[in-house]
Amino acid sequence: MTDDAEAVTAVQDQDQDNGPDMSGTEMASANMAETLKRRNFYGRRAGKTIKPHQRLWLSEDLESLVPEGIKPEENPDRLPLDLTSVFKDGRPVWLEVGFGGGEHMVHIAAQNPSIGLIGCEPYINGVVMLLGKIRRAQVTNLALYPGDVRDLFDVLPDASIDKAFLNYPDPWHKRRHHGRRFVTQGYLTQLARVLRPGAEFRMATDIPDYVRQALIEVPQAGFTLENHGGTPWSDWISTRYEKKALREGRVPDYLTWRRAG
Ligand SMILES: C[S@@+](CC[C@H](N)C(=O)[O-])C[C@H]1O[C@@H](n2cnc3c(N)ncnc32)[C@H](O)[C@@H]1O
Repeated sequence: MTDDAEAVTAVQDQDQDNGPDMSGTEMASANMAETLKRRNFYGRRAGKTIKPHQRLWLSEDLESLVPEGIKPEENPDRLPLDLTSVFKDGRPVWLEVGFGGGEHMVHIAAQNPSIGLIGCEPYINGVVMLLGKIRRAQVTNLALYPGDVRDLFDVLPDASIDKAFLNYPDPWHKRRHHGRRFVTQGYLTQLARVLRPGAEFRMATDIPDYVRQALIEVPQAGFTLENHGGTPWSDWISTRYEKKALREGRVPDYLTWRRAG
């Protein structure tokens, strides 16, 4: 992502006074509402115009794929999600953060029909690309949230996820923006909380400085590095972003961690 793109939709913090006469419950709700309001998202939420056939996919397919209770407006108290109501038979659930155009999501879901895969992506053009791929591949073991992974983290129960994928997270090149990277404690402690002990966490990136930061921060959040190299996993499919990176001469790193415990 370019520096210009990094600045696209920064939503600024707003301070607000909650008022003096609130009960404990009102205060807790107000604090949660305030936390959600303060949650800045710096990436892009929309790009090219959505085409008419893609609008149809959105109107026909999206609702049934999005579990109820992740969106803050639907669940202001952030009550935990019941994953057995998302994937009916209590199957293992895997998570993909920032699925982009969804090629990895559909590939993993098709290869592993006995698991449930939940992915999140705030970029609506990516979401519609995934919807098209789901239609073509006819996979049914998928759920998605068209928004920020932090909304999902709020409501995922402890140790509820069996495997997580982070493919080519936004690099945030400028030093002063490194705190926005996924490989920082705010995101990683939540990821560690929702992963069951022993679960695998995979990350691919083409940015050497991202690898540097990940090698420091991910272990601090309770993960053990299992593998790091230039060869992808045997079940890997090259993503849209990876293809672009390779075309532009950048070299991927593939890292595998295991949640300690
Ligand atoms: C560089 S792209 C890579 C997309 C895809 N994984 C691939 O390999 O082609 C990073 C993606 O992460 C998404 N993203 C950024 N911040 C996110 C967040 N807080 N929650 C979920 N996804 C996020 C972006 O919208 C973007 O699509």
